[in-house]
Amino acid sequence: MKLHTTIDGLSLNNPLMPAAGPLVGDDKKMHFLQEAGCGAIVSKTISTQDAQIPKPCIYGDKTYVMNSELWSEHSMKQWKETFLPNFMKRKDRPLIISVGYTKSDMEILIPMFDEFADAFEVSTHYVGTDLSVIQDTVKTIRHYTRKPLYMKISPHLPDVAGFAKAIKAAGANGIVAINSLGPTMRIDVDKRRIVYGNEEGFVWTSGPAIKPLALAAVYKIKQAEPDLTVIGVGGIESAEDVIEFLLAGASAVQMLSAALIKGKGLYKKILDDLPKTLEKYGFNSIEEVINTTLKNQVKYKASTPTLIEDKCIECMLCVKVCPYFAIEFNQKITFDPKTCFECGLCVSKCPTGAIEMEGL
Ligand SMILES: Cc1cc2nc3c(=O)[nH]c(=O)nc-3n(C[C@H](O)[C@H](O)[C@H](O)COP(=O)(O)O)c2cc1C
Repeated sequence: MKLHTTIDGLSLNNPLMPAAGPLVGDDKKMHFLQEAGCGAIVSKTISTQDAQIPKPCIYGDKTYVMNSELWSEHSMKQWKETFLPNFMKRKDRPLIISVGYTKSDMEILIPMFDEFADAFEVSTHYVGTDLSVIQDTVKTIRHYTRKPLYMKISPHLPDVAGFAKAIKAAGANGIVAINSLGPTMRIDVDKRRIVYGNEEGFVWTSGPAIKPLALAAVYKIKQAEPDLTVIGVGGIESAEDVIEFLLAGASAVQMLSAALIKGKGLYKKILDDLPKTLEKYGFNSIEEVINTTLKNQVKYKASTPTLIEDKCIECMLCVKVCPYFAIEFNQKITFDPKTCFECGLCVSKCPTGAIEMEGL
């Protein structure tokens, strides 16, 4: 199975990269992810000031992670003199250096790290929503490097298509979509206080819970600017998720939070699972997934669900959840076509796949 792909001249053995965060916080961690097989390595975001991080700074739930981690706690000098030279000694795949945040930061960071970078990823997380400011940042970077340049979009930026248009016009190659969602909040009822968070009491949320938002952002960018490279990130936790992002319009993907929830071995597991998952869905290569056009068939009339009796375990979940009170149990599960709204919730909730509906 061919997992290879190319983005802006960067040759990737596979489309999975780590997302900027603690797992790529120094050379040893980046080497760990290189050995796990990631197609490219992305660094933790480096800035001109080392970050002062409020601690504790990472909370892990079942489907999401909350963090107040900011950018690298290590200085740009430590990255330049220690981490990056050490990483280069055993580097055998593309390195994308993540930097942040302002135009004046870029004037220092891009010339400083250009010798190590195969590409740059620029976080726009703390620079507000003014697209002309972001455009100026891109133009400034282009004074210093011709290497592939990916601007990372945060979900609090409202105009995804406008962002895509602006950064393309200024000379960027693509977008990393998305950063973590926020501001968000976590309250400990027992302690009557905010346990995790910055001085304002807020954290950023990521992980599987934000996947639908990330997928939509990837899709919107690709629809608005088909020539831009999109690197999808947000909630990926399986080989199937990788394929979903590629179908939405991404050419490569990144992951972090699911590995914080399930463990650092998840990168290797996804890469091991990818060939058989592609095969399961009838794909012959990653490139084939990327080149597949996603269909969208909107209908305003569906059908009443039907029961596959030998699969039904009579758990009654469908009866409990039906929002239209259309499912009853009389010796067996029955659907009332008069009250059924054809919403499909029962199909998605049935634990044994015993409910079918045309079009799903
Ligand atoms: C603990 C933590 C630290 C992060 N640090 C950075 C960072 O330094 N730079 C950045 O651009 N994004 C950072 N992110 C955001 C991730 O790179 C990623 O965009 C986001 O978490 C969504 O992907 P995921 O759901 O796979 O984690 C961080 C996320 C977490 C959870």
